[in-house]
Amino acid sequence: MADKVFHDLLAQQNYIALAPLAGVSDLPFRTICRMHGASIVYTEMISAKALCYQNKKSIDMLATTSTEFPCVVQLFGSEPQIFARAIEEYINNSAFAAIDINMGCPVPKVTKNKEGSALMRDEDLACEIVRAVKSVSQKPVSVKIRSGWDKDHINAPAFALAMQQAGADMIIVHPRTKEQVFTGKSDWHIIAQVKKVCSVPVIANGDIFSPQDATSVLTQTGADGIMIGRGAMGNPWLFGQIVADRAGLPYTSPTCEEIFSQIELHLKMVCASTNEKAAVAAMRKHLFWYTKGLPHSAKIRRELSSVVTQSEVMVILKKYLFKENNDTK
Ligand SMILES: Cc1cc2nc3c(=O)[nH]c(=O)nc-3n(C[C@H](O)[C@H](O)[C@H](O)COP(=O)(O)O)c2cc1C
Repeated sequence: MADKVFHDLLAQQNYIALAPLAGVSDLPFRTICRMHGASIVYTEMISAKALCYQNKKSIDMLATTSTEFPCVVQLFGSEPQIFARAIEEYINNSAFAAIDINMGCPVPKVTKNKEGSALMRDEDLACEIVRAVKSVSQKPVSVKIRSGWDKDHINAPAFALAMQQAGADMIIVHPRTKEQVFTGKSDWHIIAQVKKVCSVPVIANGDIFSPQDATSVLTQTGADGIMIGRGAMGNPWLFGQIVADRAGLPYTSPTCEEIFSQIELHLKMVCASTNEKAAVAAMRKHLFWYTKGLPHSAKIRRELSSVVTQSEVMVILKKYLFKENNDTK
């Protein structure tokens, strides 16, 4: 059933995904993005090996609720049999709509273990992983890749085709090399090249920050859907704006009041899953992203950097609103 939703979104050309974002795309943020119009959301990357070792933190990352469905679980690792075990033990009986394999993470701690983007340098191992995952998975399987390792090794089209031949049901492309990390600009031509060689759906990712970017990337690449990461951080409204724009409807930016009530809800959701102090600490980065670009926000951003309780956050925001509303009268 869950994987039918996944296929339907593609068939309806309505694949507007929240990207897997370590430290960001947890259950509360995923739920918020779904409320704002993301048609599908991705978990943070979760270690297949840690799941096999019954690591509590990794198991907790599998928490999901029906309000966020459909959600895709992203796994990373380098050992085909470990992937297979993790899927049999934890994923096949879960509510996740699909499984994504991380072959794009550039972080040295990950690549030194032949995980993440290091797999783009070892096509045989990457194929073996996809085959092992497909042999046990009861859900569709996608692979998320970069352009390649560095500018002299841009292999995304050939690599994507090899993943398709190994059994991948979908390819997601973030067209930067591992070396680039997040520097420079995504090279959307590479997504177009992947789309040309693959017959499975291809999802475009990288530097989509506005409805105009969403339209441009789809037009320029012929991709079957889009995936948004940084553009959604502090701005989950982007999904609704894209949905409206695609329907030819007008859209607006959130008001300060809307941003602050979103913060309040987000805080409540995070507090529901952990103690208040840890929740507020985890929310700090979101508070910075939500308040980025607000007029005269430097002062509240400074104040928010040291808050420890929910009510402190709300007092700072209310004071700011009061001052802004009175200053503009
Ligand atoms: C904070 C952060 C965490 C990320 N974590 C993951 C991850 O867990 N798995 C993954 O495949 N990509 C991860 N990425 C990469 C994003 O999914 C995405 O590919 C990249 O940010 C490019 O898309 P964007 O320009 O829309 O942000 C992360 C990116 C950021 C900024």
